[in-house]
Amino acid sequence: MEGKRFSGFPLPLVRQVSNKIVRFPPEQLRMDQQRSLMFMQWGQFIDHDLDFSPETPARVPFGGETDCDTSCAKEPPCFPIQIPPNDPRITNRRDCLPFFRSAATCTRGRAVREQIKALTSFLDGSVVYGSEGAVAERLRDRSSQRGLLAVNHNFTDRGRASMPFGPMRKEPCLKASGAARIPCFLAGDTRASEMLELACMHTLFVQEHNRLAGKLRSLNPHWNDERLCQEARKILRAMIQIITYRDYLPLLLGCRFRRLIPRYQGYNESVDSRISNVFTLAFRFAHASIPPTVRRLDEYCRPITPEIQLRTSFFAVWRIIQEGGIDPYLRSLMANQAKLMTQQQMVVGELQDQLFEQVERIGFDLAALNMQRSRDHGLPGYNSWRKFCGLSQPSGVKSFGHVLRNRNLARKFLKLYGTPKNIDIWIGALAEPFVKGGRVGPLMACLIGTQFRNIRDGDRFWWQNAGVFTPRQRCSLAKISLSRIICDNTHITKVSRNIFRANRYPRGFVSCSQIPKLDLTPWKSKSTKEQVLYQVKPAFRFFCKMTFYKLWLFTISIGAAILSIPRGRNVDNMMFLRTLTMPLKYIFGIQIVVKGKENLRTKKPFVLVLNHQTSLDILVMMEILPRRCVPIAKKEILYMGTFGLACWLAGVIFIDRKRREESISTLTEVAHSLHKDNLRVLIFPEGTRNHGGSMLPFKRGAFQLAVKAQVPIIPVVFSSYNNFYNQKEKKFTPGKMIIQILPEVETLGLGPDDVPKLTEQVRDSMLSAYQGISGMTNGASH
Ligand code: HEM
Repeated sequence: MEGKRFSGFPLPLVRQVSNKIVRFPPEQLRMDQQRSLMFMQWGQFIDHDLDFSPETPARVPFGGETDCDTSCAKEPPCFPIQIPPNDPRITNRRDCLPFFRSAATCTRGRAVREQIKALTSFLDGSVVYGSEGAVAERLRDRSSQRGLLAVNHNFTDRGRASMPFGPMRKEPCLKASGAARIPCFLAGDTRASEMLELACMHTLFVQEHNRLAGKLRSLNPHWNDERLCQEARKILRAMIQIITYRDYLPLLLGCRFRRLIPRYQGYNESVDSRISNVFTLAFRFAHASIPPTVRRLDEYCRPITPEIQLRTSFFAVWRIIQEGGIDPYLRSLMANQAKLMTQQQMVVGELQDQLFEQVERIGFDLAALNMQRSRDHGLPGYNSWRKFCGLSQPSGVKSFGHVLRNRNLARKFLKLYGTPKNIDIWIGALAEPFVKGGRVGPLMACLIGTQFRNIRDGDRFWWQNAGVFTPRQRCSLAKISLSRIICDNTHITKVSRNIFRANRYPRGFVSCSQIPKLDLTPWKSKSTKEQVLYQVKPAFRFFCKMTFYKLWLFTISIGAAILSIPRGRNVDNMMFLRTLTMPLKYIFGIQIVVKGKENLRTKKPFVLVLNHQTSLDILVMMEILPRRCVPIAKKEILYMGTFGLACWLAGVIFIDRKRREESISTLTEVAHSLHKDNLRVLIFPEGTRNHGGSMLPFKRGAFQLAVKAQVPIIPVVFSSYNNFYNQKEKKFTPGKMIIQILPEVETLGLGPDDVPKLTEQVRDSMLSAYQGISGMTNGASH
């Protein structure tokens, strides 16, 4: 790749870029006055929940003798990092920094090489529980039957659990620990021991899992091993999601946060929630916020000396086991600062010259690795990503200097690369000045923000998604904090309240007694007797829910009627009924997705036709009911007590299905008032409820009305309720449904003779939409 021309220019050696742009003298180190070291550490912890592109398992090229670790021959899977002239560390230009290509997926003859992503892409706690069944199983403590994760049998941290050890193979932790022979930890992610603070975070969350499982067991002694483990896991996963989206991302993306990650609207199955290749490069931004030393603080928050040089800390988990556990590191994460990334001080020398020095034949260069990795993955250069994000694409020193707000740096880049088009994505995006209130530039913010939005919206088990937790559980969860998790699982008694921001003890630190605890009572399941009633008899549950539904409608109707009376019978009163009905969907955990909303954005009169399934249609219909819309209903509803009264006051038109003549004359009157009063009309043309999972033949009234008034028809299709509601089977659970609003069907110029054809045409289009969307919800139900 080096030497080959791209956009007319050869790519520079990555080590050369690292030397010329990334390197800075250690005395110029600057710390971040507004971000704690924990801000850096959380980033790595969640990154290890999201992505890992493993290297090719073969250490030696296929069929060859060469070993990528020791040889500098460029033979797959080796892609060694070449040494540029005048390298400040490595004088022998024939030497190299070893590099293994990322393993490729089986492409079955396709020419495009794609890398393997070894983890689940959702932010789902896989960093703690593993991304594969076999790993997840190995991490469990099956002996206790209490839903616990395995812990270390040989060592504890002053009575608190330590992480279990992995196998005693030839591996870096053993090497780093020398005579102590302490192996790496066994964790949900294989990189847990790479760094001391990272290993501490793993320990903290394993302990939190076991604490949660213990508490759940006291509340629900009848839960078995599996249930305890899965419920604790579900809570822990929600905690990681909350800390990331509520506390971490706003401080990372600053003013861009809300634009990139708008408020949660529910699960969206059309979102691609896979981790993009470019994200695995962009999210390495934080390599520039790692300080050159690892610090520890004692119980009075005084520094423990000597500080550990970063270069000697990689894989040195023996220090956690033998030198006082995780508390000193966690105190430092809260009470010390992250390194500040600036254009003059990018990545510290310890990572640029001495990465893994203790365990490898030569110190690696993390900046060079990042750039070589994007070339290995075949990622396009800087300008392509700027374009992808809708940002300007600079061409020369002037425009690039403007983007970087630094002409000198732009000049340096262009001297190396010739054009901004070729700049390796990691370094190009890293070099941009921070967005307001954030810690990344606009390009990085876009790449990171887009990914985090997708893994939230495309996650069916997202903690806020309907039916995942009960409203009471969600309320409890909203109070969790990383500070509380530290209080609950360490000997630490003072923590920072704003854990990613505060960075100087005692400023911003409070006693643990002031940090809200997680209230687990909403997880207490019903007493065994109640449970039996609820589980053994789903019919009982169905009955309870339907009774509640009806009671709700009758009760809110009283309120709606009282509010409506001063205005008399008026279509605008419908708003009261609508607003008061809406909470029901949250209570029942029914998620309603509306597609084709744009088709309803018309100010003209029209006739809405809907398919009719059950009495739940009242609830669902409210989701899309336009303003000034009168439903046409059967006369029986008028006699349904307060509900009938509220409907009458809201202008609902009642027809007697048995008296055809009378119905026709009512519809004729309606046709006249459609234009006069600028009304819309809503009709269920099947005439009656249809539980059968398809559509009954349509009655023609709605279509005659539309033709008579010469107004368009807007067909609206409710997907089948079958995945959560079935009257025959007495099933009523939380679930999801889709409302599809189809484009309007024009009736201008049509006469009475056209009505039968029009009716069939609309029914056909609704039926095919129904089949399409019902398949989608049934496949994706919880
Ligand atoms: C002392 C701390 C850290 C060390 C020693 C470290 C080291 C590394 C190394 C060696 C790689 C693989 C490089 C390659 O061969 O391509 C890597 C990848 C990565 N690092 Fe770091 N890192 C640290 C902290 C962080 C932090 C704080 C973040 C984010 C906030 C982060 C995000 C990533 C990401 C996203 C990858 C790519 C993972 C993949 O998909 O394979 N790292 N890091």
